[in-house]
Amino acid sequence: MAHTDTAEPTRREFLYIATGAAGVVGAGALAWPFIDQMNPDASALALASIEVDVSAVEEGQSITVQWRGKPVFIRYRTAEEIEAANSVPLSDLPDQAARNSNLPDGTEATDANRSAEGKEPWLVMVGICTHLGCVPLGEQGDFGGWFCPCHGSHYDTAGRIRKGPAPENLLIPPYAFVSDTTIKIG
Ligand code: FES
Repeated sequence: MAHTDTAEPTRREFLYIATGAAGVVGAGALAWPFIDQMNPDASALALASIEVDVSAVEEGQSITVQWRGKPVFIRYRTAEEIEAANSVPLSDLPDQAARNSNLPDGTEATDANRSAEGKEPWLVMVGICTHLGCVPLGEQGDFGGWFCPCHGSHYDTAGRIRKGPAPENLLIPPYAFVSDTTIKIG
Protein backbone atom coordinates (compact mmCIF):
# COMPACT_ATOMS: atom_id res chain seq x y z
CA MET A 1 0.00 0.00 0.00
CA ALA A 2 1.32 3.40 -0.88
CA HIS A 3 2.52 5.69 1.80
CA THR A 4 0.48 8.85 2.01
CA ASP A 5 1.17 11.97 3.92
CA THR A 6 -0.73 15.08 4.71
CA ALA A 7 0.40 18.61 5.27
CA GLU A 8 -2.80 19.56 7.02
CA PRO A 9 -2.14 20.07 10.68
CA THR A 10 -4.58 18.46 13.00
CA ARG A 11 -6.64 20.83 15.08
CA ARG A 12 -4.50 20.07 18.09
CA GLU A 13 -1.31 20.84 16.17
CA PHE A 14 -2.85 24.00 14.84
CA LEU A 15 -3.72 25.24 18.29
CA TYR A 16 -0.17 24.52 19.39
CA ILE A 17 1.25 26.46 16.43
CA ALA A 18 -1.06 29.39 17.10
CA THR A 19 -0.06 29.43 20.75
CA GLY A 20 3.60 29.43 19.73
CA ALA A 21 3.00 32.35 17.41
CA ALA A 22 1.46 34.36 20.26
CA GLY A 23 4.62 33.79 22.28
CA VAL A 24 6.82 35.07 19.48
CA VAL A 25 4.94 38.22 18.57
CA GLY A 26 4.05 39.21 22.13
CA ALA A 27 0.93 40.08 24.05
CA GLY A 28 0.05 42.98 21.80
CA ALA A 29 -0.77 40.61 18.97
CA LEU A 30 -2.77 38.10 20.95
CA ALA A 31 -5.90 38.90 19.03
CA TRP A 32 -4.55 37.38 15.82
CA PRO A 33 -3.96 33.82 16.99
CA PHE A 34 -7.15 33.94 19.02
CA ILE A 35 -9.20 34.94 16.01
CA ASP A 36 -7.35 32.55 13.77
CA GLN A 37 -8.11 29.67 16.10
CA MET A 38 -11.75 30.33 15.35
CA ASN A 39 -11.07 29.48 11.72
CA PRO A 40 -8.56 26.64 11.64
CA ASP A 41 -10.14 25.11 8.58
CA ALA A 42 -9.75 28.26 6.50
CA SER A 43 -6.14 28.62 7.54
CA ALA A 44 -5.34 24.99 6.90
CA LEU A 45 -7.15 25.04 3.59
CA ALA A 46 -5.11 27.94 2.31
CA LEU A 47 -1.85 26.13 2.91
CA ALA A 48 -2.55 22.49 2.52
CA SER A 49 -0.74 20.43 -0.01
CA ILE A 50 0.25 16.80 0.19
CA GLU A 51 2.93 14.65 -1.33
CA VAL A 52 1.98 11.13 -2.26
CA ASP A 53 4.44 8.31 -2.88
CA VAL A 54 2.96 6.21 -5.68
CA SER A 55 5.92 3.85 -6.08
CA ALA A 56 3.89 0.91 -4.77
CA VAL A 57 0.93 1.48 -7.09
CA GLU A 58 0.98 -0.95 -9.98
CA GLU A 59 -0.63 -0.69 -13.38
CA GLY A 60 -4.36 -1.25 -13.04
CA GLN A 61 -4.41 -0.13 -9.40
CA SER A 62 -5.82 2.96 -7.72
CA ILE A 63 -5.38 4.61 -4.38
CA THR A 64 -7.46 7.25 -2.68
CA VAL A 65 -5.84 9.95 -0.58
CA GLN A 66 -7.31 12.82 1.38
CA TRP A 67 -6.55 16.36 0.26
CA ARG A 68 -8.18 19.37 1.88
CA GLY A 69 -10.79 17.05 3.33
CA LYS A 70 -11.69 15.55 -0.02
CA PRO A 71 -10.93 12.16 -1.54
CA VAL A 72 -8.51 12.26 -4.44
CA PHE A 73 -8.33 9.27 -6.76
CA ILE A 74 -4.92 8.37 -8.15
CA ARG A 75 -5.08 5.70 -10.80
CA TYR A 76 -2.33 4.02 -12.77
CA ARG A 77 -4.24 3.21 -15.91
CA THR A 78 -3.76 0.22 -18.17
CA ALA A 79 -2.97 0.57 -21.87
CA GLU A 80 -6.53 -0.56 -22.61
CA GLU A 81 -8.01 2.18 -20.44
CA ILE A 82 -5.89 4.83 -22.12
CA GLU A 83 -6.83 3.52 -25.55
CA ALA A 84 -10.51 3.50 -24.61
CA ALA A 85 -10.35 7.11 -23.46
CA ASN A 86 -8.33 8.22 -26.49
CA SER A 87 -10.74 6.70 -28.94
CA VAL A 88 -13.72 8.79 -27.80
CA PRO A 89 -14.60 11.67 -30.14
CA LEU A 90 -14.89 14.89 -28.18
CA SER A 91 -18.34 15.37 -29.72
CA ASP A 92 -19.52 12.35 -27.71
CA LEU A 93 -18.67 14.02 -24.41
CA PRO A 94 -21.48 15.71 -22.48
CA ASP A 95 -18.83 17.97 -20.91
CA GLN A 96 -16.12 18.94 -23.38
CA ALA A 97 -14.10 21.02 -20.92
CA ALA A 98 -10.93 19.54 -19.46
CA ARG A 99 -11.85 20.57 -15.87
CA ASN A 100 -8.15 20.43 -15.22
CA SER A 101 -7.01 22.96 -12.62
CA ASN A 102 -3.58 23.03 -14.29
CA LEU A 103 -5.05 24.24 -17.60
CA PRO A 104 -6.99 27.33 -18.69
CA ASP A 105 -10.77 27.21 -18.65
CA GLY A 106 -12.13 26.18 -22.01
CA THR A 107 -9.41 23.61 -22.76
CA GLU A 108 -10.97 20.59 -24.43
CA ALA A 109 -11.27 17.37 -22.49
CA THR A 110 -8.95 15.15 -24.48
CA ASP A 111 -7.62 12.09 -22.72
CA ALA A 112 -4.06 13.42 -23.01
CA ASN A 113 -4.75 16.60 -21.08
CA ARG A 114 -6.86 14.92 -18.42
CA SER A 115 -3.85 12.82 -17.42
CA ALA A 116 -0.43 13.79 -16.15
CA GLU A 117 1.80 15.44 -18.74
CA GLY A 118 4.59 13.04 -19.62
CA LYS A 119 2.94 10.45 -17.37
CA GLU A 120 -0.16 9.65 -19.37
CA PRO A 121 -1.08 6.46 -17.50
CA TRP A 122 -1.67 8.46 -14.33
CA LEU A 123 -4.98 10.10 -13.51
CA VAL A 124 -5.32 12.34 -10.47
CA MET A 125 -8.88 13.50 -9.79
CA VAL A 126 -11.02 14.81 -6.98
CA GLY A 127 -13.22 11.83 -6.15
CA ILE A 128 -16.48 13.73 -5.77
CA CYS A 129 -19.34 13.29 -8.20
CA THR A 130 -20.14 16.57 -9.91
CA HIS A 131 -23.86 15.94 -9.52
CA LEU A 132 -24.51 16.15 -5.79
CA GLY A 133 -21.23 15.16 -4.26
CA CYS A 134 -21.22 11.40 -3.65
CA VAL A 135 -17.97 9.46 -3.98
CA PRO A 136 -17.99 7.39 -7.20
CA LEU A 137 -16.83 3.78 -7.29
CA GLY A 138 -13.82 2.81 -9.42
CA GLU A 139 -13.70 0.34 -12.30
CA GLN A 140 -17.45 0.32 -12.57
CA GLY A 141 -20.15 1.68 -14.80
CA ASP A 142 -20.80 1.42 -18.51
CA PHE A 143 -17.49 2.98 -19.52
CA GLY A 144 -15.09 1.10 -17.26
CA GLY A 145 -14.13 4.18 -15.29
CA TRP A 146 -16.11 5.34 -12.28
CA PHE A 147 -19.75 4.96 -11.37
CA CYS A 148 -21.69 7.07 -8.91
CA PRO A 149 -24.40 4.92 -7.37
CA CYS A 150 -26.33 7.81 -5.85
CA HIS A 151 -28.15 8.74 -9.06
CA GLY A 152 -26.35 6.73 -11.72
CA SER A 153 -23.57 8.84 -13.24
CA HIS A 154 -21.05 6.99 -15.39
CA TYR A 155 -17.53 8.38 -15.89
CA ASP A 156 -15.04 7.00 -18.41
CA THR A 157 -11.41 5.96 -17.99
CA ALA A 158 -10.35 9.61 -18.17
CA GLY A 159 -12.89 10.57 -15.49
CA ARG A 160 -15.17 12.29 -17.99
CA ILE A 161 -18.91 12.17 -17.50
CA ARG A 162 -20.53 10.04 -20.18
CA LYS A 163 -24.00 9.21 -18.91
CA GLY A 164 -26.25 10.20 -16.04
CA PRO A 165 -27.12 13.43 -14.28
CA ALA A 166 -23.63 14.69 -13.38
CA PRO A 167 -22.99 17.89 -15.37
CA GLU A 168 -19.18 17.94 -15.37
CA ASN A 169 -16.14 15.73 -15.61
CA LEU A 170 -14.44 14.80 -12.36
CA LEU A 171 -12.29 17.76 -11.35
CA ILE A 172 -8.53 17.52 -11.67
CA PRO A 173 -6.82 19.28 -8.76
CA PRO A 174 -3.60 21.27 -9.09
CA TYR A 175 -0.82 18.70 -8.95
CA ALA A 176 2.58 17.81 -10.35
CA PHE A 177 5.02 14.92 -10.26
CA VAL A 178 7.88 16.23 -8.14
CA SER A 179 9.86 13.05 -8.66
CA ASP A 180 9.29 9.98 -10.76
CA THR A 181 7.12 8.44 -8.09
CA THR A 182 5.96 11.38 -5.98
CA ILE A 183 2.92 13.49 -6.73
CA LYS A 184 2.41 16.82 -5.02
CA ILE A 185 -1.26 17.78 -4.83
CA GLY A 186 -2.23 21.36 -4.08
S1 FES B 1 -24.31 12.47 -6.65
FE1 FES B 1 -23.44 11.24 -8.19
S2 FES B 1 -25.06 10.85 -9.53
FE2 FES B 1 -25.93 12.16 -8.04
